[in-house]
Amino acid sequence: MDAPRDDRYVSGYAAGPPERRSISPNVATLPHHRHEPELTRRSVTGSERKEHCSTRFTAEDPARGRRRTLPGMRAVVITRPGGPEVLELAVVPDPAPGPGEVVLTVAATSVNRADIMQRKGFYPPPPGSPEWPGLEASGTVSEVGPGVTGWSVGDAACALLTGGGYAEKVAVPVSRLLPVPGGVGLVDAAGLPETTCTVWNNVMMLAGLRPGETLLVHGGSSGIGTTAVQIARAVGAVVAVTAGSAAKLERCAELGASILVNYREQDFVAEVKAATGGRGADVVLDNMGAKYLARNVEVLAPHGRLVVIGLQGGRKAELDLSLLLEKWASVHATSLRWRPADEVARIVASVAEHVWPLVADGAVRPVVHARLPIEDVGEAHRLVESSAHVGKVLLTF
Ligand SMILES: NC(=O)c1ccc[n+]([C@@H]2O[C@H](COP(=O)([O-])OP(=O)(O)OC[C@H]3O[C@@H](n4cnc5c(N)ncnc54)[C@H](OP(=O)(O)O)[C@@H]3O)[C@@H](O)[C@H]2O)c1
Repeated sequence: MDAPRDDRYVSGYAAGPPERRSISPNVATLPHHRHEPELTRRSVTGSERKEHCSTRFTAEDPARGRRRTLPGMRAVVITRPGGPEVLELAVVPDPAPGPGEVVLTVAATSVNRADIMQRKGFYPPPPGSPEWPGLEASGTVSEVGPGVTGWSVGDAACALLTGGGYAEKVAVPVSRLLPVPGGVGLVDAAGLPETTCTVWNNVMMLAGLRPGETLLVHGGSSGIGTTAVQIARAVGAVVAVTAGSAAKLERCAELGASILVNYREQDFVAEVKAATGGRGADVVLDNMGAKYLARNVEVLAPHGRLVVIGLQGGRKAELDLSLLLEKWASVHATSLRWRPADEVARIVASVAEHVWPLVADGAVRPVVHARLPIEDVGEAHRLVESSAHVGKVLLTF
C-alpha cells in the first residue's frame, strides 16, 4: 500500500519505531527490549494470567541513559495471517509515554473491520505503531509523558489509535485523546473515537452536509453507519440507509433514518430518487467501493458529494466522468489510520468541539451490540465477520 509516513507513536514503545514485521510481534526482538527469564507468545487464559503478567522486561531507556525494568502486559497478537483462531493473548512489553503522550490503562477496545483485514494480513499498522490491533480504546490515564498539559493520572479518556488497542495499556499522543463524554460509560466510550472521527471528518468536514440535505449511508447498521445516521439527524439532514435485513433497517429508523432500503431486495438508486422527488442524495457515505461506484454517482443530486471510505465491494471500477460533469458532482476517498498526525489532530479537535456536545445531550450515542471479555476476541471477530451485529462489538479488559 502506498501510504504517507506518519511519525506518531515515535516513542511509545522505544526511542524509534519498532521494526516492521508482517505478522506478529516477537517480543524478544523488539528494539530496546529483551525478555527475562522466559517469554513465549502463546495463549494466556484464566489462572495462567497472573503468572504471565508478572514476567518482567528490561528495556534500554535512552532518554535516561540507563536500563529500567518494565512489567509485561497482556495483548492480543496476530500469530500469522488467517482466521480468528490466529489471535492469541500474549505478554508484550509495557509502553512508556514519550513527549506529548500519555499511557492509557485500557478498559475496553472495539473490533473494527480494519482489525479483520489486519488479522488476514492485508492491512499492516503504520510505522511506529504497535503490531497488535486496536484502532480505539477507552480507559484511565496511568502515566503522563514530558510536556503533557491538560491531562493527569486518573483521568478517564478514550483515544483514536493507529493500532495497539487490544492491550492492557497503550501509549497515545494527547492530540488523539478525548474525554469520556457525559452520559457514556467508560467501557462504551471505546466505541466512539473511530466512528465519530470517520463520520465527522468525511460527512461534515469534507462533504459539508447541510441541514435539509439528504445523506445516503450504506451499511446503516454498522458501527460507522449507526454513528452517521445519528450525527446527520442531529445536524438536521434527512437520512437514507441501506442494510441487509428488515430488522436492521428498523434499528436505523429508531436512530433517525427515514428512507430505508434493503439492498438485498431493492435498488437504492430507484428508492432514494423516489423518496426525494427525483433529486437523489446530496452526500453518499460509501463502504462498498467499486461495486457501488456507478450507482452511487447515479444517485447523487446536483452538486452531490460521494465519499468512499470502504472497499468491501472491490477497489477497481470504471467511472463515466460525464455523469460528474453534468451534476457538478465530486468523488472523494479517505482513510484515517494512515493520515498525517496534524490532520488527525484537527479531526479529533473538531470532534471534541462539535460531536461531543451532541453525545453529551444524548443526540448521538454509541450503539453497542456486545461487550465481550478480551479472552473472547476470536468470537468477537467471528461476530463482526458474520455481520449479525448492529453497531459496535467491544472487548473489555
Ligand atoms: N476510511 C476510513 O477512515 C474508515 C474508518 C472506519 C471504517 N471504515 C470502513 O467503513 C465501513 C464500516 O466499518 P464498520 O467497522 O462500521 O463495519 P461493520 O460494522 O463490520 O459493518 C459492515 C457493513 O457493511 C454492510 N454491507 C455489506 N454488504 C453490503 C452491501 N452490498 N450494501 C450495503 N451495505 C453492505 C453490512 O450491512 P448488513 O450487515 O446489513 O449486511 C454492515 O453494515 C467498512 O467498510 C470499514 O472498512 C473506513
